[in-house]
Amino acid sequence: GNNVSVGLLGLGVVGSGVVKLIEDHQEKLTHQLGLDVDVKGILVRNLEKNRGIDVDPTFLTTNPEDVLHNPEIDIIVEVMGGVEEAREYILKAFAAKKHVVSANKDLVALHGPELQEAASRNNCDFYYEASVAGGIPILRGITDGLSSDHIRKIMGIVNGTTNYILTKMNNEGISYETALKQAQELGFAEADPTSDVEGLDAARKMAILCRLAFSMDVELNDVEVKGISNISLEDLNYGKQLGLTMKLIGYADFSNRKLDVNVKPTFLSDSHPLASVNNEYNAVYVYGEAVGETMFYGPGAGSLPTATAILSDVVTVIKNMQLGVTGNQYLEPHFTKKLKGSAE
Ligand code: HSE
Repeated sequence: GNNVSVGLLGLGVVGSGVVKLIEDHQEKLTHQLGLDVDVKGILVRNLEKNRGIDVDPTFLTTNPEDVLHNPEIDIIVEVMGGVEEAREYILKAFAAKKHVVSANKDLVALHGPELQEAASRNNCDFYYEASVAGGIPILRGITDGLSSDHIRKIMGIVNGTTNYILTKMNNEGISYETALKQAQELGFAEADPTSDVEGLDAARKMAILCRLAFSMDVELNDVEVKGISNISLEDLNYGKQLGLTMKLIGYADFSNRKLDVNVKPTFLSDSHPLASVNNEYNAVYVYGEAVGETMFYGPGAGSLPTATAILSDVVTVIKNMQLGVTGNQYLEPHFTKKLKGSAE
């Protein structure tokens, strides 16, 4: 028929945003694609929960097979989070020849190459723009916009929770604990905020960015990590007097075919473009040999911003289907992994 149907795994904050956006932007989707996009199956844990959105209750199911093996569904959108179950379902989706769009940074950081390989083997697409920096099209920026350049350096504020905490501490003198609580109330902290404040969430995003930017088989363990849990108001005030602002920076430098990648609290000069990225906003500075300095800025979390990244991936998948090609974000690594500081 003149439509493509999507199945969702998960209907939380992000999944609900995807459902809403598909409805609200249907006219634009139809114009771009020449067909309608609809949702035909949604895996949930609780059938009764009220999510404040308008979904046909007959599409809800607690059985993943109902979504993964629904013959009407061409594209699976994974927004359930977690690693093992999500991995299992995505592998099943590829085996059933369904394309997959995922927002799951934990999963992609740990198992991205394996999932990509399974996608290619089954002639399926696998896209995950929403896994890094929410609404900012940074993976496309790197793999598409800057694909012809040699990227040399990335500096990213890729965790909204820690940026919010540091901003509140620095600009308003609010304590670490109070600022963390606010970030949790506002909904961008992870269920267990340890992964935010200890830098692990940012490290996952840096591993994904580095794979794509430097075409190298980067693993999570390759990223050196230090969080912000021991940063005090005194530290920040000390920096202020010197014209410095502290940010949790993901840093990657690729030179002489060796990669140096880490996440750590870093004092930036107040005049540095990343120093004025405040609250829960994210930004990624990318330096390419030919292009020079670029910066991508925007919301790193939230229902509709993240849903935008997901739905744009869905649009890409549908365009690929119309062209009869398979696409993906991750090409075979070009460079053998060599980390700076490690033995030759
Ligand atoms: N906990 C994450 C953050 C959510 O604070 O950035 C978006 O990945």
